Amino acid sequence: MKAVLLVGGMGTRLRPLTYRIPKPLLPVMGKPLIMHVIDSIPSEVDEVIIPIGYKRDVMDEYLKSHPPGRKITLVDEPEPLGTGGAVKNVEEHIDGQFLVINGDVITSLDVASFLKFHRAKGGIASISLWPVEDPSPFGVAQLDPESRITRFQEKPKREEAFSKLINAGAYALEREVLSYIGDGFVSMEREVFPKLLDKGMYGFQFDGHWIDCGTRENVIGAHRILMGDGVKVSRNSVSGGAAVHPPSVVCDEAVVAGAVIGPGAYISPRCVVGPMSSVEGSVLYDDVRVGTRCRIVDSIIDQGVSVPDGAEIISEIVSRAKQ
Ligand code: GDD
Ligand code: MG
Repeated sequence: MKAVLLVGGMGTRLRPLTYRIPKPLLPVMGKPLIMHVIDSIPSEVDEVIIPIGYKRDVMDEYLKSHPPGRKITLVDEPEPLGTGGAVKNVEEHIDGQFLVINGDVITSLDVASFLKFHRAKGGIASISLWPVEDPSPFGVAQLDPESRITRFQEKPKREEAFSKLINAGAYALEREVLSYIGDGFVSMEREVFPKLLDKGMYGFQFDGHWIDCGTRENVIGAHRILMGDGVKVSRNSVSGGAAVHPPSVVCDEAVVAGAVIGPGAYISPRCVVGPMSSVEGSVLYDDVRVGTRCRIVDSIIDQGVSVPDGAEIISEIVSRAKQ
């Protein structure tokens, strides 16, 4: 069985980070998003197909130097084809029932149970669903009591959303779905799903956690979910009367001296946080140096950045990457 990973977006809401690396390679708890997704795909899937254009070389290099332990096929997508067009573009690699997974989501979805559900329902397509308070930035599905999807609308106005159940970005599809995708740029959600409703499209709800890492808030939120409630501090990394509030992680070889860390701080390897500074609700990627008396709140600091003494960084993404 094949799985198609959708990672071709340009990650515009995460600039300037995504000038350096494509969104799927952004680390969440020190592990690139795409590896979280690949690790969640059951072993029944023997090949993961990745249509990609934006920063293909960076992705190629990463996967070569960190082989994920299963066959990965990168397929060229020189111009973005949309979520449907990208799938159509890899048609020749798909030999039967297949999975499509958005590569920017951190989730507890059990993909094997999802596949079982799809097979039991016997529809042409099944999609995973997650409840949210405001469904307007997502695709919204309405279910009947048999879990059949009766309506689907991509990014409705908040007042027009007919349910709180959103498309969680994993699809189990019959090969026949490919015949409903036209040529060129096609949105799976806007153009293909509505055509499948008559053919039997089902929605699979699950428990646990789900977060789309398309924004700064959500990349930080994904760390917060995965950190749980505790404090994980590597030995010898905290000194000089530093306080670490849960949930927080301070990784190996980081040096935190006389600073306040957390709640909600993820400090990557080889970061240095200086005296009287505080880091809260924020992610520091590798090798960040924070001087003294700095205040970092709700922010992502990219690898290698030096934060000068006394700086205040609130709700920002700071990176040296340029367009
Ligand atoms: N290959 C390729 N080509 N991939 C693409 C393209 C493209 O042209 N456009 C987007 N993608 C990839 C993105 O990299 C991402 O992993 C996934 O497809 C979804 O695109 P996003 O741009 O992140 O869409 P979204 O988050 O606004 O909405 C989608 O995901 C939501 C759940 O996270 C939709 O599927 C919504 O219905 C859904 O609720
Ligand atoms: Mg997204």
